[in-house]
Amino acid sequence: MEYTRRKFLQTSLGALAGAAAGGLWSVPGWAAGGTKLELTAQESRIDLGRGPAFNAFSFNGQTPGPVIRVREGQELQVILRNRLQRPTTIHWHGQPVPNAMDGVPGVTQAAVPPGGSFTYRFRAHPAGTYFYHSHFGYQLDQGLYGALIVEPARPVGGWDREEVLLLADWVLADGGGMAPVPRRSPMGGMMGGGMMGRGRMGGRGGRGGWSGAPGEPLTEPYYQGYAVNGRLYPHGEPIKVKKGDKVRLRLINASSATTYDLSLAGHRLTVLALDGQDITPKTFDVVRLAMGERVDVEFTADNPGAWLLQAYDTGLGESGLATAVLYQGYEDRPPNRPGFRPGLSLATYWDLAAARPVAHPAGPPQRWYQQVLSGGMHSPYWSINGRMYPDSERLGAAPGEKVRLSYFNRSMIPHPMHLHGHFFRIVNFALPPERWLVKDTAVVEPMRRLDVEFVADNPGLWFHHCHNLYHMEAGMANLVTYA
Ligand code: C2O
Ligand code: CU
Repeated sequence: MEYTRRKFLQTSLGALAGAAAGGLWSVPGWAAGGTKLELTAQESRIDLGRGPAFNAFSFNGQTPGPVIRVREGQELQVILRNRLQRPTTIHWHGQPVPNAMDGVPGVTQAAVPPGGSFTYRFRAHPAGTYFYHSHFGYQLDQGLYGALIVEPARPVGGWDREEVLLLADWVLADGGGMAPVPRRSPMGGMMGGGMMGRGRMGGRGGRGGWSGAPGEPLTEPYYQGYAVNGRLYPHGEPIKVKKGDKVRLRLINASSATTYDLSLAGHRLTVLALDGQDITPKTFDVVRLAMGERVDVEFTADNPGAWLLQAYDTGLGESGLATAVLYQGYEDRPPNRPGFRPGLSLATYWDLAAARPVAHPAGPPQRWYQQVLSGGMHSPYWSINGRMYPDSERLGAAPGEKVRLSYFNRSMIPHPMHLHGHFFRIVNFALPPERWLVKDTAVVEPMRRLDVEFVADNPGLWFHHCHNLYHMEAGMANLVTYA
């Protein structure tokens, strides 16, 4: 699949893809307006630009899948067709969809069998940057993900360019192709991970058919490849700007096991939204983005040159993910790498606040759950309160209640905790509750505590888990349930 040219996908509906509201993107997709879409999950040859093409999974022949753009309030209908040889589903990450549309196999629906189909229907709401992905086994890691952009009902302008950038980590064999799936240790490293391989979301479905047995040590040398919109640097599409442009980037971390520290050489980044929800804009040198998180940033093109938008893998401490930002007249220059500058500012949750007051009930929570996150080191499993999904506890609530989750990370690795069907607020006593961040994924740093609160306003059986896919599959998940 070629992404480097702006080749736009023709859909059976004739929905035009490409520029919408002044935006451009290098992943083919649908313009806002088409509300009846089809996504076919299939096995495809994937070409990341470097190394030989290999078999992985795609939506409609591409990974990332088509960018879906809708307007807030629109009814979205997506027919998922399964042409894989294993079951699949789609989860609409961050959107508080009705429970039956949430795409968690064995929890909110039966997985769609090979040859089968399923129609997802929900009202896109609220506006912001989201993504969709398979929730079956390791399929997200094998390419089944794409961007979901919900544009505000009344368009807001102010940007000369907008780019959707999906970040993904691939573990690639020296000899070509992907490492076997599951291909990382529960710690997130690249060892075979001896004790893994109990794909929990969908039974044994996590096992890659062509890729050998899970849990066996990898015998070939593997390396980590970081793709932006499905291409490894420098094979991707550069972001082309003119002096004076205001550029909005919608960054989506669809990686399975990587947290990034993002920076743009020669520029600072102004954070506009976290997990799709507006914050009071604030400018930083470095923006951290964990698995499942999205960040919208803008920068002003006021420093002509060829620059690198680059990300450090905070776990491996190496830099690999990158794309170029090229000013007019600098199209053929090699981009400058960001040099180390002392005193770089890093955006953290504690520096940010909701852009405008968002109602949040006052007073103590009606339910309060402690969630101890542990595992790793000497244990092959990851758990919440010492229990692994599906044997983990269920968190009950009554409709309308305010629920607090107090996470205690008793491990040396961060856990991006994600709650389906709801937004939660990050408890921050330095701010009034109506300014607390509204998020659906929150990183609990190693050996730290983090509290979130949500209102039980969307009844159902909701998956709650670490968005490190390897941790999730190793058991770090439970269910929030209320009728
Ligand atoms: Cu993005 Cu349960 O996942
Ligand atoms: Cu985790």
